Amino acid sequence: MTPTAAPRPVEGSAFLAACRREPVAHTPVWFMRQAGRSLPEYRAVREGISMLDSCQRPDLVTEITLQPVRRYGVDAAILYSDIVVPLKAVGVDLDIVPGVGPVVAQPFASRADLDRLPDLTPGDVPYVEQAVRQLVAELGPTPLIGFSGAPYTLASYLIEGGPSKNHERTKALMYGDPPLWHALLDRLGRLAGAFLRIQVQAGASAVQLFDSWVGTLPLPDYQALVAPHSATALAAVADLAVPRIHFGVGTGELLGAMGEVGAEVVGVDFRVPLDEATRRIGPQRAVQGNLDPALLFAPPQVLDTRVRATVEAGRAAPGHVFNLGHGVPPNADPARLQRVVELVHSIPH
Ligand code: CP3
Repeated sequence: MTPTAAPRPVEGSAFLAACRREPVAHTPVWFMRQAGRSLPEYRAVREGISMLDSCQRPDLVTEITLQPVRRYGVDAAILYSDIVVPLKAVGVDLDIVPGVGPVVAQPFASRADLDRLPDLTPGDVPYVEQAVRQLVAELGPTPLIGFSGAPYTLASYLIEGGPSKNHERTKALMYGDPPLWHALLDRLGRLAGAFLRIQVQAGASAVQLFDSWVGTLPLPDYQALVAPHSATALAAVADLAVPRIHFGVGTGELLGAMGEVGAEVVGVDFRVPLDEATRRIGPQRAVQGNLDPALLFAPPQVLDTRVRATVEAGRAAPGHVFNLGHGVPPNADPARLQRVVELVHSIPH
């Protein structure tokens, strides 16, 4: 492993302070999927380069990660990459199909497939380490968020072979063969943890674990079949003292449990108001969220009212990082996102 990067000038960061439940002058804001298709400058540099190829080019990763920081003045950058990058790096045959998402050539089906999931080492993703180092140097006081897909969400792509609405195959394996399920999620928990650790050791100031699709599970099954493995992923960076954000969609029933697996911040989607989310999560953790991305398409005054209401509801939490309740839609107008950042920053804390 490479040595930990030297201390960075991120000390005054409002984003890091809110994650740590420390006082802030204004609510910090960044957007999930802020780097990407809603920006014309992104489409320009991606011209003719596939998604996965672009993730392996440190100069492109650096440029695309910086684009929304320059344009919006958000309080944090998120590394341009994808949740399937570490799977690809250990040899899983997959692609990201435009307009579809990740597609796996040979879906995971039996115990023999475990052999196709070896541990991830820093040498498997040299371009990630290089991009993070470059970014940290260029970002100055703006913190960089590293991220990984969580074991359940990664397993859903591996088992379904691609995006899926109801996750029938995933659940068939989970309920039908618990020993194999746990063996798979153990591998994915270690892979996710290793990917997070590589990013933090290269200089990332915080991490987010995306369990985008885990909201399809009831709480008892989440606790028994998923939580221990998400805990493995988050524990891999526990000693590095960076805030850990844990996010999923439709996870209103799971919010408390998602905090307890080892997160300092729980990401909340747009279905649960932040004051109610805080009641479910408790006073020991900050929250992140949760404007419905659809409001970016509503009349500006309606958008403003909802942004203010979200900041207001966030005051019930011991720390609040403003975000959308899910990712930036590809057809979002950058001017609307700009408006959200300016408004959030203008409201005194
Ligand atoms: O947030 C950021 O700006 C950083 C970059 C980032 C991407 N993917 C870039 C990307 C992050 C954090 C992700 C995470 C990711 N990837 C998640 C979790 C977040 C979530 O939305 O719930 C998931 C489920 C994936 C899997 C994935 N990759 C999907 C569903 C898609 C979209 C497919 C499509 O085209 O509609 C991708 C591709 C992808 N990842 C794109 C980007 C910018 C679009 C590809 C392109 O521009 O050609």
